[in-house]
Amino acid sequence: MDVLSPDDERREPPASVEYETVSVPVLVIGAGAAGARTAIELAERGVDSLVVGKRDHGDAHTVWAAGGINASLGSRDPGDSWEIHAADTLAEGHFLNDPSGVELVTRTMPERIRELDEWGMDFARTEEGEIDQRYFGAQSFRRTCFVGDRTGEAILETLVARARDLGIPYRENVMVTRLLSDGVRVHGAAGYEMETGEFVLFDADAVVLAAGGHSALYDRHSSRDEENTADGAALAYEAGASLMDMEFVQFHPTGMVGDRYGEEWDGRLVTEAVRGEGGRLFNAEGERFMERYSPDQMELDARDVVARSIANEIDDGRGTENGGVLLDISHRSREFVEERLPRMTERFDSLGVDLAEEPVEVTPTAHYAMGGVDIDFATGETGVEGLYAVGEVTAGVHGANRLGGNSLAETVAVGAVVGEHLAGGIDTERRDLDGGVRAVAERHFGDLAALEASDGERSPGELIAELRDLMERYAGILRDDERLARGLAELDRVREETAGLGIEGDRRGLEFELAVDLSFMLTAAEAILRSARLRTESRGAHYREDYPEVDGDWRRNVLVRRGDTGMELSTRGVGEPSPAVQAAVEAGHELEYHHLE
Ligand code: FUM
Repeated sequence: MDVLSPDDERREPPASVEYETVSVPVLVIGAGAAGARTAIELAERGVDSLVVGKRDHGDAHTVWAAGGINASLGSRDPGDSWEIHAADTLAEGHFLNDPSGVELVTRTMPERIRELDEWGMDFARTEEGEIDQRYFGAQSFRRTCFVGDRTGEAILETLVARARDLGIPYRENVMVTRLLSDGVRVHGAAGYEMETGEFVLFDADAVVLAAGGHSALYDRHSSRDEENTADGAALAYEAGASLMDMEFVQFHPTGMVGDRYGEEWDGRLVTEAVRGEGGRLFNAEGERFMERYSPDQMELDARDVVARSIANEIDDGRGTENGGVLLDISHRSREFVEERLPRMTERFDSLGVDLAEEPVEVTPTAHYAMGGVDIDFATGETGVEGLYAVGEVTAGVHGANRLGGNSLAETVAVGAVVGEHLAGGIDTERRDLDGGVRAVAERHFGDLAALEASDGERSPGELIAELRDLMERYAGILRDDERLARGLAELDRVREETAGLGIEGDRRGLEFELAVDLSFMLTAAEAILRSARLRTESRGAHYREDYPEVDGDWRRNVLVRRGDTGMELSTRGVGEPSPAVQAAVEAGHELEYHHLE
């Protein structure tokens, strides 16, 4: 059963269904940095919001972002500027980025960092007391600000503390399963309390989707299994918004792999900061293979380049037995490694590996979705009245490939703008909820109850595993038409098998959550496969072995919308950057890796 299937108004709502109704001017779905920063801006401008999240307060996916957040402060390299940061972002995105989003983020980040600093974030400092900045891949200067290798956690702690000071209400362990639309605008959302199973109708004048990405569609991914399951992209698509750039999924070069670490750690991130602090990659033959692929930028070339180089080494038989390569920072002193990479040191130590003394085994892992909801970066509007989006759930800032350190930047930079825009236009006068919208919610609660009663043979966990496996095989780092077509056929099969779904326990249990995740994931997986098949070129993270070159005519975004008979795809040309940013692009700034040696 697909809980996301379009609402059919001809169906009668169930005769009796119990649910709680919560009314609020702005509902923020997702409690990571993007949602928190949006709510903070709203609160500072006097507008109430409610933030809902699937996990405990303070434990969103943001906490897994490790290495840093970009801003052209110039603490170490005074030649840096926001225009060069923008140029690096566009170059890494292979010029498929929305220049307005890029310029917004890069221009405002110095202010956003100073603000986080004022709010108590304990950034690493230089000897002179400036906010310190480290190298990250494909950046012309040291511009990644950091708190050891726990930057995401530190940002979320800072934002949650600020939100608490401002009295912003938060509901944890709430899963949103549908946006409520009357066909013209979104009026709120429906979902359930994951601990009690109680259905909840959120009646809101505006809904902000900040629900993260969809990297967990892949077998090996850097997030926890039940997050980044495409909730936001699927909810927005179902409500009529367009998804964009879905074919672009970032494979981070260094995910954990190997018997020593165990299943639980497979795919989890070994932060880019290890390479940013000098870490080197070797194949199983002891060769520092990046010399062959990228002699100038070496391990700090763009993520797509490093990930593909590692995949090539492994495919050509020069990988380790576990299907990885070796990352080594043991040439740095123990003191340095422990100070700059405390979390990594601690994690590997708990697994019996001394990061300061020996190499660790790594392989590419699905890490970030460049694709997502198409928004206007001046407002966060999605094209569906009443629905806004911010953070990884959106597309545009990162183009075909994201610059490391720009994801955390996007959350706070765009969150502040969306909050400001909404605060200027929101009607805080509460009205009675439209009966038609209530009926949409009640039909949906009926569908959720029917899903809960499913008693077939196939467990949602098994079907998710099959979906992840097909995405890894057919829509992974290397693609071609045959694989993508096969992926779509396999996807149809998995979708058909959902008719035989069986759920153990009730809706307070994991199986029910997974069944809802599965319906989100099927939507996003189809959008990725179809978009990837349409884009007959290679660009950034989308590498087609049958079309290995960049094609200038494809400097276009692929858009996916829900049509009457299924997904409809179209393309749109990309805008041009401002003259100042264009000049920085033409100046051709580039990281000189050998500074690090
Ligand atoms: O490697 C990392 O620490 C990841 C950072 C990012 O994706 O921006």
